[in-house]
Amino acid sequence: MNYNIALLKGDGIGPEIVESAVAVLDAVGQKFGHTFAYEEYLAGGCALDEAGEPLPQATIEGCKTADSVLLGAVGGPKWDSLPGDKRPECALLGLRLELGLFSNLRPVKLYPALVGVSPLRADIVEAGFDILIVRELTGGIYFGKRGRQASKNNESEGNEAKNNESEGNEAKNNEGEIAFDTESYSTAEIERIAHVAFAAARTRSKRVTSVDKANVLESSRLWREVVHRVGEEYPDIELLDMLVDNAAMQLIRNPAQFDVILTSNMFGDILSDEASQLTGSIGLLPSASLGATSKGLYEPIHGSAPDIAGQGLANPLATILSAAMMLRYSFGLAAEADCVEAAVEEVLEAGCRTADLAGVGETNTEPLSTAAMTKEVLKCL
Ligand code: IPM
Ligand code: MG
Repeated sequence: MNYNIALLKGDGIGPEIVESAVAVLDAVGQKFGHTFAYEEYLAGGCALDEAGEPLPQATIEGCKTADSVLLGAVGGPKWDSLPGDKRPECALLGLRLELGLFSNLRPVKLYPALVGVSPLRADIVEAGFDILIVRELTGGIYFGKRGRQASKNNESEGNEAKNNESEGNEAKNNEGEIAFDTESYSTAEIERIAHVAFAAARTRSKRVTSVDKANVLESSRLWREVVHRVGEEYPDIELLDMLVDNAAMQLIRNPAQFDVILTSNMFGDILSDEASQLTGSIGLLPSASLGATSKGLYEPIHGSAPDIAGQGLANPLATILSAAMMLRYSFGLAAEADCVEAAVEEVLEAGCRTADLAGVGETNTEPLSTAAMTKEVLKCL
């Protein structure tokens, strides 16, 4: 069967790591008798440079017609001083919205070979951990009302917080400019992401930890109510609530207690970076962004790493594992995905390390380049 994949290489190390993933996809195609056709589109800083906007219409349309989308990374210091609506990151946020990708799956597991690379003590991580972060991706503070206004001291009217319980906060000092971002969630938004988490838990260890800040935020109180209501439809799944500050601590204290973590857009962003480090490197973590159809956007959770771009130092494994997720979730090719994941595990077992994983623990050899690591994975395939 032939699959059409839109490639968004993006900025920084993006082109290098996407190239690695494409080599792996092609090898899988050869082995299992599939063909993958690629169409490249601009997104991020490179799109700003070449087309004057971070997410050109042609890219949106290309991604809509493709069967699935593979993205490297976007952003870099070159574009850091641009206004918020012109930044490279808009490409990512815009695509998530345009493609309706409300659900972000971020598996975080510790490979046995990397126990010594995890910054956590061996006695904490020896037994391993295998977490799936289910992050809501098209709502919350990322997409809520935001803006700036002049100081209340200079204004007679226009109080944004009229019907807010916390109105009349005497301790707030309103001098100077005011900037605001709004966290809001609807019942429907919470319901659909909760279903994703509970359904995923059914295929795993049957535990969902819903992370919120319900002791302070009204949006979290609704989140908690709705998650429990949805949870009643999954009596076989254990549901636990956890406040986000505690969750940040528990991840480090005992990561093995988690199976599925269900959380909002921003909490998921923060906790997934934290969790990634427990595995040894953020360079290992893939992600899938999914909506109501089989189309998805697959990308490593790390950024464009401009400091090492073009030097062949990047770890390609997160992008290779993202391609494996594409095989599994968009194309229903589970055996093919298993094969890629097994190859990654095997090269790590064999002691292959890119620079991000070297210098700690078991290996005495020189770190591998992006291309050399990719070659090792291809050998195992
Ligand atoms: C991520 C990234 C993005 C996010 C940025 C680049 C907009 O950090 O995918 O985790 O915050 O969602
Ligand atoms: Mg992030």
